[in-house]
Amino acid sequence: MALTILILRLAVCILAFPMYLLDFLGLWNWICKQWFPYFLARFTVMYNKQMASKKRELFSNLQEFTGPSGKLSLLELGCGTGPNFKFYPSGCQVTCVDPNPNFEKFLIKSIAQNPHLQFERFIVAAGENMHQVATGSMDVVVCTLVLCSVKNQEQILQEVRRVLRPGGVFYFMEHVADKPSTWNYFWQQVLDPVWYLLFDGCNLTRESWKALEQARFSKLKLQHLQAPLSWELVRPHIYGYAVK
Ligand SMILES: C[S@@+](CC[C@H](N)C(=O)[O-])C[C@H]1O[C@@H](n2cnc3c(N)ncnc32)[C@H](O)[C@@H]1O
Repeated sequence: MALTILILRLAVCILAFPMYLLDFLGLWNWICKQWFPYFLARFTVMYNKQMASKKRELFSNLQEFTGPSGKLSLLELGCGTGPNFKFYPSGCQVTCVDPNPNFEKFLIKSIAQNPHLQFERFIVAAGENMHQVATGSMDVVVCTLVLCSVKNQEQILQEVRRVLRPGGVFYFMEHVADKPSTWNYFWQQVLDPVWYLLFDGCNLTRESWKALEQARFSKLKLQHLQAPLSWELVRPHIYGYAVK
């Protein structure tokens, strides 16, 4: 099986040769950072339609974590185009973090479409180092479809715990590796290298639940789900929340 995966991977990589060539010339990363926000702006419309009920369920108790200030301080980590804004309660103070500055114009549009929120700022940074965000300053951190792309999940989760106040909550919804016995996992393995390049560092085969289980939150509520998405490769999901 491992040999078949290797041969098919090679075949797919040959088909994607122009992309690899651009990467070799050092041009692909720039192109990808430009085109990815446009792709995501379209993809998240479909994703939000198909996942609306799950997102509503996930974020239904956000308001309960409002801190002593009386306002809910929320950090959206890997915010992308801001597709979660409509699920947040009125008056919520939103800070956004993303390493790709090209998302800013999409964020501005999302902010204008969600006047019930109080937008604080957009910080261009990777989640592994959010020194611009004060320790213990957030009631809630949200991360959707991000742990698949980050360089270091352990470090990100450490940073999430640092910026949360005691009793603060980390909400996540992530696509993950399918069960090893499935055909879907077979194709996830075959397509992973090309997918990574095409979708700005996204991995299809991450077992992100393991990093969450090891992140030393005081409580973790994590569920596995076959998401009702048209793209089979990203159907296996985990979602839930973790309390600091
Ligand atoms: C698939 S998009 C998801 C965006 C958005 N959260 C959503 O649900 O549509 C992945 C996002 O993670 C961001 N990202 C990648 N590496 C990151 C990192 N190390 N720290 C924080 N965000 C990161 C990307 O720039 C991109 O905006």
